[in-house]
Amino acid sequence: MTVQFHDHVLSDAALDQLFNEARSYNGWFDKTVSDEQLHAIWDLMKMAPTSANMQPVRIVWVKSSDAKAKLAECVMEGNRAKVLAAPVTAVIGYDIDFHEELPWLFPHADAKSWFEGDERAREQGAFRNSSLQGAYLMLAARALGLDCGPMSGFNGDAVNAAFFADEPRHRVNFICSVGYGDPASIFERSPRPEFATFNRIA
Ligand SMILES: Cc1cc2nc3c(=O)[nH]c(=O)nc-3n(C[C@H](O)[C@H](O)[C@H](O)COP(=O)(O)O)c2cc1C
Repeated sequence: MTVQFHDHVLSDAALDQLFNEARSYNGWFDKTVSDEQLHAIWDLMKMAPTSANMQPVRIVWVKSSDAKAKLAECVMEGNRAKVLAAPVTAVIGYDIDFHEELPWLFPHADAKSWFEGDERAREQGAFRNSSLQGAYLMLAARALGLDCGPMSGFNGDAVNAAFFADEPRHRVNFICSVGYGDPASIFERSPRPEFATFNRIA
């Protein structure tokens, strides 16, 4: 039997696109992001791992002028113009009751029962895994040739009221603009630590 190892390293160009040359953008070219592109981001990010395949992320893609204006009201002054200018900004939330979906998302086990009656464990699982999913979203967008601008400078209660009013069990984690970033809108790259600074191999 031949054992297949996953030893295919991506090209330098791919690694540059995902990491080395990818930046967090503050300004955007006036170029539309299609709904098909948003679907394509989802179709990649949903394949990346979450605990017990819980998939707790709940996303509102803010694309219309009305929705942008509503989101702009909820963010810190410094982020307002960015949200208004971006072709789309994802409100990346999570569902505190994600466990209701586990019977079909994780059919191998009765995972729903692990979380029933333990809201603290659900909050922790939902926040941890929706943060991962937000990161997957950014890498999926970059893989598809788009740029990202993540932001946590907003009033969470206001975002929840504006975008999750019908879903009181959904809460925002962070928001992330997606589009074609204007290189004129970014500072010089901030320093990144060497391996030895924050790592050790035990
Ligand atoms: C979760 C998160 C929240 C952030 N919040 C803000 C924000 O509110 N406003 C802002 O201008 N940048 C924000 N940033 C952008 C970071 O400052 C930026 O990603 C970091 O400095 C690295 O920049 P680079 O990707 O261009 O190297 C945020 C980034 C992340 C990941």
